[in-house]
Order: sequence, then C-alpha cells, then structure tokens
Amino acid sequence: MIKYHLAHAGRWAVDISVRTVGPESDEWGGVVKLLPRAVVWSEDPNDTGDYHFLAATDETGRFLGGCVIDIGPMGFGPLAEETIGFLEDIEVIEEHRRRGVGRALLRSALDLAWERGARSVRWTVDYGNAAGIALYSSLGLAFVPEEDPDAEHPEKCYTVVAANPAAEDTRGTP
Ligand SMILES: CC(C)(COP(=O)(O)OP(=O)(O)OC[C@H]1O[C@@H](n2cnc3c(N)ncnc32)[C@H](O)[C@@H]1OP(=O)(O)O)[C@@H](O)C(=O)NCCC(=O)NCCS
Repeated sequence: MIKYHLAHAGRWAVDISVRTVGPESDEWGGVVKLLPRAVVWSEDPNDTGDYHFLAATDETGRFLGGCVIDIGPMGFGPLAEETIGFLEDIEVIEEHRRRGVGRALLRSALDLAWERGARSVRWTVDYGNAAGIALYSSLGLAFVPEEDPDAEHPEKCYTVVAANPAAEDTRGTP
C-alpha cells in the first residue's frame, strides 16, 4: 500500500493524504458510497480490470474523496503488451470540493500509473462537466473531442489524455 502526503498551499491550507485502499481499509465505506459502480466491477470475477482505489483524507483522517484507476495492457494491436491506465471515476464529497482534493487524487492516480509502467492514462469527461474540465485543464492535460456527428445518438464527451512524463527515458535504446 502506498501513501502520498500532499500539503495543499491554497486558501484552505488543508493537509491531504492520498493512499491506495481496499476492503480492509478504514476509508472503504466512504469509497463504496462514493464510487459504487467501480466497486461492483472490481468484485465481478468476469471483469478483467486491475482496479486500484485511492482515498483522500485530511489530517484528522476524515474521508474527503476517492478515485479508481484501471492499469493494464492495452490489449490489441502492435501495442497490445504496452501498459495503459484508464481513470474509471473520481469524486470529491461535495462539501470538500475546491480545496485541492481532486487535484491530489488525480496526481496520485497518475503517479501510480507511471510507477506501474503506463505510458499514458485516459478517461472521458462530459462536455457539461465544468468542474472536471477545469481541473484537467489546470493540469495542462490534452482533450480529444469524441463526438461522432454521424452516430444516431452522438455521445458528447472529451477523452482526456495524460502522458507519462518519463516515457522517453523508460523505453530504452534499441
Ligand atoms: C471534478 C471534481 C473531482 C474536482 O474536485 P475538487 O476537489 O473540487 O477540485 P480541486 O479543488 O482539486 O480543483 C483543482 C482546480 O481545478 C479547477 N476547478 C475545480 N473545480 C472547479 C469548479 N467548480 N469551477 C472552476 N474551476 C474548478 C480549479 O482550477 C481548481 O484550482 P483552484 O481551486 O486553485 O482554482 C469535483 O468537482 C467532483 O467530485 N465532481 C463530481 C464528480 C465528477 O464530475 N467527476 C469527474 C468525472 S470525469
């Protein structure tokens, strides 16, 4: 189990810890309440995802929010064996928003993916999700529009892509 301590230097000056958690953790009840769909997927024996749950707490141990990232091989094509992450969900409890918790969770999830050798992490965000788009923009991430105008019921979202900053170094030389 890994643990990150991230002191937020913003106006709330709250100390945020983010760590990976599981059913044995104190934060698990909060995670189940906040990210119920991902918990169900992770418990499904037919689901091949490798889900990692992260929980954020303040200095008193209070649960603030969580996220879940699936890290594994890309699965097909010439890059089938390459590791990729998919951020399945991220949510901060409403009364704790705008204090840096979402950013701390996201940074920790990306760090975990890089530690495990992922070259990129992606996920989707709805066009209407102003807070999510603002958070990802604040980290300088790339947005790819996913609307297909020819589809019968076009789904409007962006795919957000974060690239491993050390990817060039880890690939080695031929
Ligand atoms: C999106 C979400 C996770 C952000 O969490 P958060 O803890 O409030 O975000 P942070 O405080 O870390 O925000 C970091 C930066 O993102 C931007 N941001 C976040 N929420 C914002 C909002 N509502 N309006 C404008 N900017 C916002 C700001 O730049 C902010 O930095 P600042 O506060 O120093 O200005 C949270 O709003 C949430 O849980 N939403 C519901 C679930 C959801 O939509 N998840 C995303 C699915 S793709």
